[in-house]
Amino acid sequence: MEGCMVRLHSVHFRGAFSAQPIIVNFHELFQTRDAPTILPTVKNEDVLRAVVALLDTSLPEIGPRDVHETVHYPGIHTIILSQDHADVLEDYSGRASQKGTNLSPVPCKAKVEADSTHKLLTELYSDSEESTEETSEEMIATETSVSWSWEQFCEGLQEFVDGARDRKEKRAVQQEDGKILPSAVGVESLIMAAACYELKILSTGDMVLQLSLLAVRKRYRHLGIGSYIMELLKTQSIVGKYDTLVAHADTDAIGFFKFHGLTDDPLLNDQFKELKDDWTNSILMSYLPPFTTDLEMRNPVFSLSLREVEMNMDVARSQALFAYQQQVMCVTRLLEEVKILRKQLDLKREEVDRLNSKLEQEKRKRHDIENKFLMYRLKNTKELLDNIASDSDDQGLIEREHANPGTQGQETAQSEEPPFQTTEGAGV
Ligand SMILES: CC(C)(COP(=O)(O)OP(=O)(O)OC[C@H]1O[C@@H](n2cnc3c(N)ncnc32)[C@H](O)[C@@H]1OP(=O)(O)O)[C@@H](O)C(=O)NCCC(=O)NCCS
Repeated sequence: MEGCMVRLHSVHFRGAFSAQPIIVNFHELFQTRDAPTILPTVKNEDVLRAVVALLDTSLPEIGPRDVHETVHYPGIHTIILSQDHADVLEDYSGRASQKGTNLSPVPCKAKVEADSTHKLLTELYSDSEESTEETSEEMIATETSVSWSWEQFCEGLQEFVDGARDRKEKRAVQQEDGKILPSAVGVESLIMAAACYELKILSTGDMVLQLSLLAVRKRYRHLGIGSYIMELLKTQSIVGKYDTLVAHADTDAIGFFKFHGLTDDPLLNDQFKELKDDWTNSILMSYLPPFTTDLEMRNPVFSLSLREVEMNMDVARSQALFAYQQQVMCVTRLLEEVKILRKQLDLKREEVDRLNSKLEQEKRKRHDIENKFLMYRLKNTKELLDNIASDSDDQGLIEREHANPGTQGQETAQSEEPPFQTTEGAGV
């Protein structure tokens, strides 16, 4: 959708009501010099006030300030369904003639509490001319630091509500005369429904249309207006391309959204959790659009060929099959990889065991060799010592011979005795 405002063709609803749908980006509109007027003879600021009042009255848990901020937020588009001034005038006049003089009493102009924006706003859409409706006691937060737009919104609010109250009083008085003047019909009487949406790109890259607020004025409910807005949001040639429509559904409206094909499946909607807001009593619901989404395609004259549907199904099936095959191939190859790795591990273990036993053998061999070597050295040392001992005996004998030549036979007999015995009996 281009620009800050788009007017669509008028639509007719059950009960012979017709409305003009307009899509407005309030943020851009208020920044545009010489911005076009949304409704003839009505200030754009008052249209905004009436829209916030309708949404705040229908969704009282959110609070007027949050509603105002949502409607004003950059990127937010607001769908407004408004009736023609003349149609509303005719409607009021018709009701006056039906009721005659049996009118509900008009409340006198009371001093309204300045800090109760919600009370002020609900007064506009209490539908008290026909019925008693929701009256919330919610008070707005009285913070000192407020954004300029909220201040600007509040600045003219009392005047706007006073004007609406005057018009209501006028209507009540004029109804008694059976004639209602055009000045007794204001913007608050023209607006039948409003909805806020935004196109957002998720962190996954998916484009999402987020429906934040939706309300149909109580007296116009069950006429198909809510359904029309849902159809509009499903028409991508008007609202823009998206992969999924996500709604913050008030718990009382879950049935309505299910009726329009949205699901509250928590597993599916978990992927949109980054869109979750802090508003109470609301859950995320989503709608996955069909392959053809244009309004022209939705024309009953147009019939989508079965062949096309089958082809789309084939494409979807082959894509799913391909994804499955890829996964199975990957897992199978991983299994084979594990088997091969295990085999390699077993082989390595065997190799390690073999090397360990060889090491043991080598250790034993080395031990034997060392033992043998020790024995050999011991034996050599012993022989050496024996040789040294016998050499020294011979030397002594020769020396004694030289000194006492006659005692040789006696000395020889004595020398046959070893000087002392070893444990093995050998003389040392
Ligand atoms: C929910 C809402 C927008 C529906 O608008 P509407 O113009 O009445 O809806 P429609 O007339 O197109 O309804 C179409 C069908 O949806 C179903 N439906 C409507 N409102 C429903 C609800 N509150 N719960 C369950 N089903 C609902 C009905 O089957 C209805 O068909 P019927 O009128 O023949 O019974 C309106 O009731 C509303 O403004 N509610 C208060 C605010 C709200 O809850 N907003 C939604 C969350 S942000």
